[in-house]
Amino acid sequence: MPDTSPAKWHLAHTTWFFETFLLAEHLPGYKPLNPAFRNLFNSYYNAVGDRPLRAMRHVLSRPTLEEVHAYRANVDEAMELLLARELAADVTDLVSLGLNHEQQHQELIVTDVKYGLAANPLRPRYREAKMPPAESFAPAPPMRWEAFPGGVFPIGFGGEGFAFDNEGPRHNVYLQPFRLASRLVTNGEYMEFISDQGYGTAALWLSDGWDCVCANQWSAPLYWEKREGEWWHYTLDGMQPVRREEPVCHVSYYEADAFARWAGARLATEFEWEVASQDCEIEGNFMESGALGPQSVTDDEGLKQVFGDVWEWTSSAYLPYPGFQPAAGAVGEYNGKFMCNQMVLRGGSCVTPKSHIRRTYRNFFPPHARWQFMGIRLANGD
Ligand SMILES: [Fe+2]
Repeated sequence: MPDTSPAKWHLAHTTWFFETFLLAEHLPGYKPLNPAFRNLFNSYYNAVGDRPLRAMRHVLSRPTLEEVHAYRANVDEAMELLLARELAADVTDLVSLGLNHEQQHQELIVTDVKYGLAANPLRPRYREAKMPPAESFAPAPPMRWEAFPGGVFPIGFGGEGFAFDNEGPRHNVYLQPFRLASRLVTNGEYMEFISDQGYGTAALWLSDGWDCVCANQWSAPLYWEKREGEWWHYTLDGMQPVRREEPVCHVSYYEADAFARWAGARLATEFEWEVASQDCEIEGNFMESGALGPQSVTDDEGLKQVFGDVWEWTSSAYLPYPGFQPAAGAVGEYNGKFMCNQMVLRGGSCVTPKSHIRRTYRNFFPPHARWQFMGIRLANGD
């Protein structure tokens, strides 16, 4: 699957980021362990130079893992020398970018490992299964609508500390009054969509979505399979029965959009999501919980599961905010050049490190992507 990369590649590439954008530029006398790595572990930066085709990353059996660890140790040592120096603000900003970049790749390691193991007919599990807590088998509370007033709202990052360039500039957006679902869409609700011939009803789908369903013969979320009449899905704990009360996960934008239409609702815009999230603590089922999968809610007050569990598809195309300017140089290719043909997702997932997420954080994927932990929250007019 061309979107996924081996864990060894992620380790080498995050190391490459520090070497290319910090050490090669800002540490006098820095000598690379192997100058060929500059191109070998480049992901998509045209200004840096050539790189292997993304879909061929999995055939890079050399350098070995041992050599990649040696590369990492060399770069770590040089980074310590760099950090001991007096550094200009633009250089320390690049260090922060390198660390946040690495957190993004840590999340990708989990999602890519899941895809790789699930593609194996033996469906090997990533770890020994842990028995979920008994309360997580309770039925999900009924979905409620939370109402939000319309008006003019500031959107985007305006605080201190790190944010990606795509989160700014902060600017005003006018919103009509809107309503957001109190919790994520559950597997049980999604099963009703499937039983109601959701995947067979063209009228529910965007044209591109219907083409995608037909071409790929989709009939359920990624990792779902029917065994003796019951839905099972691959999780990092191995194959498990699909539990109705848990949030549905591994659906594309097309599926989220079709489900919302079937339910008589819609998806939120990224601006509605950001305004509604102001009242929510940045707490939830993140990577640190160790669950490595979305979990059901048990209580029923306010908006639930806004942060963590699954990235929530929004109906917003991934576009530059007014006045957006990418950084000068190669690092300007980080976000800006992807602002076409992708949709924004918000809130982080069960494999996002908690310290990585912000209310203003904009993740983005093409509308057919399903291998990240992505799910659905419904919205509606007032
Ligand atoms: Fe990267």
